[in-house]
Amino acid sequence: MLRLSKSVIGIEEINAVTKVLENEYLGMGDNVKEFEELLSSYFNRPTVCVNTGTSAIHLALQSLGVDKGDEVLVQSLTYVATYQAISATGAKPISCEINPKTLTIDLEDAKRKLTPKTKVILPVHYGGGVGDLNKLYIFAKENNLRVVEDAAHAFGSIYKDKLVGAFGDICCFSFDGIKNITSGEGGAILTDDKTILERIKDARLLGVQKDTDKRYSGKRSWEFDVEFQGWRYHMSNIMAAIGVEQFKKFPGFKAKRQDLAKLYQTEFSNIERIKILDHNYQEIVPHIFTIQVDSDQRDELKEFLSANGVQTGFHYFPNHLLSKFKIQDLNLPLTEKLHKNLITLPLHPDLDEEDVKKVSKLIKDFLKV
Ligand SMILES: Cc1ncc(COP(=O)(O)O)c(C=O)c1O
Repeated sequence: MLRLSKSVIGIEEINAVTKVLENEYLGMGDNVKEFEELLSSYFNRPTVCVNTGTSAIHLALQSLGVDKGDEVLVQSLTYVATYQAISATGAKPISCEINPKTLTIDLEDAKRKLTPKTKVILPVHYGGGVGDLNKLYIFAKENNLRVVEDAAHAFGSIYKDKLVGAFGDICCFSFDGIKNITSGEGGAILTDDKTILERIKDARLLGVQKDTDKRYSGKRSWEFDVEFQGWRYHMSNIMAAIGVEQFKKFPGFKAKRQDLAKLYQTEFSNIERIKILDHNYQEIVPHIFTIQVDSDQRDELKEFLSANGVQTGFHYFPNHLLSKFKIQDLNLPLTEKLHKNLITLPLHPDLDEEDVKKVSKLIKDFLKV
């Protein structure tokens, strides 16, 4: 079976984890510090690591003071993690349409949904692409909104000559098992806002003040104060040890993902019945490769590919159609139509060109194009 996505793990990660286990300090300590320092120098920006991408978004929002009664503008077409992270603060996710070219948030729809309760706009960098991020920041500035970027898919992507995460307000990454790099599970928050950074550092350790500094200098906090709600969201040394090795391998992972995506693009170019995203894979490091086909054929295509040893996925079922996030009378016609056309093809660094050609040929044979 050609897998849709997978972790790519070698002896380096195994040895690094073994070393942490032999050291018998599994929690948050030197390895997490090392991983944060690596990321900080890559992005040239302070980085705080946490246990998942979901908790990264939750902490970013909480640290901005987002609370019950507040609203967060977000596209419906995202993983439910984005929505749960927003609702964990008590705030309401306000579902927006997508731009069909990039599957990122439709700013015009976001503008229509702006209210005095809107505190944050949360763009999701679908498939590694960020859409018109400059315009989004202008919109946020004009309306006094903070921006929390869900960059779970976009580790390593470039936007206007800058690394995604290296600029902007607050940026959240995920390092779960199948992302562009993994730490088993994991996440990171990047921002230049010192107040937010300090709050996030405490909040990931149950709100224990300055616990990060203590742990990084080999000490523990015995007598301390807690002023606000915190969570058990820190990263462990085991996770960070994997993350450090994955980061070293990232140039190879990046090139492979980009080459495979370019090949898919070539295979599907000029085929009217297969739509692909308008992405420049010199700049974007794709986490997933999604195509659009006729909704009447999509499910059958999935079954056909599966029968031929190819695993595929659907990214995503719209969140505004989930029981928890349904709002009466809310319709997002484009999202509701378009999600039924989407099918995600295998993409990970262990695939080779022949695999992509095989998948592409099967799809073209099935669609008779
Ligand atoms: C778009 C998006 N946002 C957020 C997340 C949450 O990341 P994590 O799985 O690390 O909690 C994911 C991961 O699956 C994702 O795909």
